[in-house]
Amino acid sequence: MENTEEHLIWRYGVKRYDSAKKIQQQNMNKLKDAIRLAPSSYGLQPYRVLFIEDPALRAKLSVASFHQPQITEASCLIVFCIETTIGETFIDGYFANICSTRGVKLEGILENHRDSVVNSICRKQDDEKLAWATHQAYLALGFLLLTAAEMKIDANAMEGFMPSQYDEILSLKQKGLHAVVIAAVGYRHPEDFYQHMVKVRRPNNEIFITF
Ligand SMILES: Cc1cc2nc3c(=O)[nH]c(=O)nc-3n(C[C@H](O)[C@H](O)[C@H](O)COP(=O)(O)O)c2cc1C
Repeated sequence: MENTEEHLIWRYGVKRYDSAKKIQQQNMNKLKDAIRLAPSSYGLQPYRVLFIEDPALRAKLSVASFHQPQITEASCLIVFCIETTIGETFIDGYFANICSTRGVKLEGILENHRDSVVNSICRKQDDEKLAWATHQAYLALGFLLLTAAEMKIDANAMEGFMPSQYDEILSLKQKGLHAVVIAAVGYRHPEDFYQHMVKVRRPNNEIFITF
């Protein structure tokens, strides 16, 4: 049994995936669980996560990703999208979910909480809402990366793509979505030399400050 640190050292930003190796469906479901179970501000999960397997679509997205090989070679391409129409309706959907999941009514403390969440989210400017939602999506991405490493599945976060082109290719605007970050998941190619590189990180005394 390896510990978390060993998993974190094992993982790296894969450049070349072995396109012959596919992640089994049961493992894909575990990766979905990790994304779904990630915490988010108020629990609102203001995102949708797309799993792109279709090779023709991946070829189009590759052009919108500076032809980075991971886009077409990974077992699956995951696109994290934020909801662009977060408002009272979306928040009410969340509270309806709380009520049905926990078998409670929207009254008392829960109703007051709903009003304060609506107040807090709806008073944000549009760009603040998008930034807030994006932060939540990145947290879910982090959960994906660590969970994948623990399963010895390679997962690479990627910002090297053109979000507006992804929105266009995947018809995201019509769905009230906007692509913010992507992840390629699969298995490293044995000849991807990046796997042999020693990790470069800022030393503790440059990152951490204790008061
Ligand atoms: C948000 C984010 C975006 C990234 N975008 C890309 C990318 O577009 N292409 C790529 O090859 N690697 C990308 N990376 C990988 C980083 O370059 C890599 O994680 C970093 O250099 C640290 O190396 P390591 O992951 O191998 O430890 C990205 C990583 C993160 C976290």
